[in-house]
Amino acid sequence: MSKVLVIGASGQIGTELVEKLREFHGANNVVAADIKTAAYEVVNGGPFEQLDVLDTQKLYSIIHKYHIDEVYLLAAMLSAKSEEKLLSAWRLNMDGLMNILEIARGKYISKVFWPSSIAVFGPTTPKENTPQHAVTEPNTIYGISKLAGERWCEYYHQKFGVDVRSLRYPGLIGYRSEPGGGTTDYAVQIFHDAIHKGEFECFLEPDTVLPMMYMPDALRATLDIMHAPAEKIKLRSSYNLSAFSFSPAQLAREIKQHVPEFKITYNPDHRQKIAESWPSSIDSSVASQDWGWQPQYDLKAMTGDMFAHLKVGQEG
Ligand code: SER
Repeated sequence: MSKVLVIGASGQIGTELVEKLREFHGANNVVAADIKTAAYEVVNGGPFEQLDVLDTQKLYSIIHKYHIDEVYLLAAMLSAKSEEKLLSAWRLNMDGLMNILEIARGKYISKVFWPSSIAVFGPTTPKENTPQHAVTEPNTIYGISKLAGERWCEYYHQKFGVDVRSLRYPGLIGYRSEPGGGTTDYAVQIFHDAIHKGEFECFLEPDTVLPMMYMPDALRATLDIMHAPAEKIKLRSSYNLSAFSFSPAQLAREIKQHVPEFKITYNPDHRQKIAESWPSSIDSSVASQDWGWQPQYDLKAMTGDMFAHLKVGQEG
């Protein structure tokens, strides 16, 4: 059984991915690591290490201590926060990846997962049904770091045979954990505010359509690409990944089905410009052809499931 290290285990994806990986590999075979502490289940459900991915020495020592062979590198600064902290964003997003790729080149680990994003696209990219190989001229530091990361991943695969796999996640929505510092964060916060306050002030304009995905689909995609036979993974930069798209107004309409008195107001800020630079829908047919990607949730199914879980959480 593989020994797995998840770096960024207290983040939005990490919190849930650690649990899935522990079900699959066995709790003691999945080491969760983060610079800060994580959710109770993550820290107590198996090994947990405090780790800054930029601390190369500690990184090597954890990999050595647990005989790690697969790394999921999720530690990153998201789009909106990266615009405020250019150099720290670049350092974390790039040097973190380079540390892991170098460790893989030295054959200390055999497989790497690294997330890219729809943020690799920019204002010159076709907006609708954006193909896998479209113009990538991102104008955010987050997008630039993801694009550079994709090129490094492909380079390390071609030159050194590193088995690195990657997905361009759309905005991710889940009930277990909240994102931080992203442009698609509103689509998570809106659920919490709908339940607790009956209203939500949105930082994007009502008709800004973005590609989104429900967390169970994102987790399944992550495990599917990592468990696929190597020869099926023909792209070693990153795969387009999509499920559905919506605007804040469309999401608000769906939420009203569950909270009829729900009210949304709009007060767009600097994140509007970031959102406008991204595609509104993504073509993920290459992922479907290569390793069988198929989303299961649409907007309606996701909204129903979010409320089912968040309301139970509230009662419990
Ligand atoms: N969800 C991310 C963000 O909003 C994009 O990958 O920054």
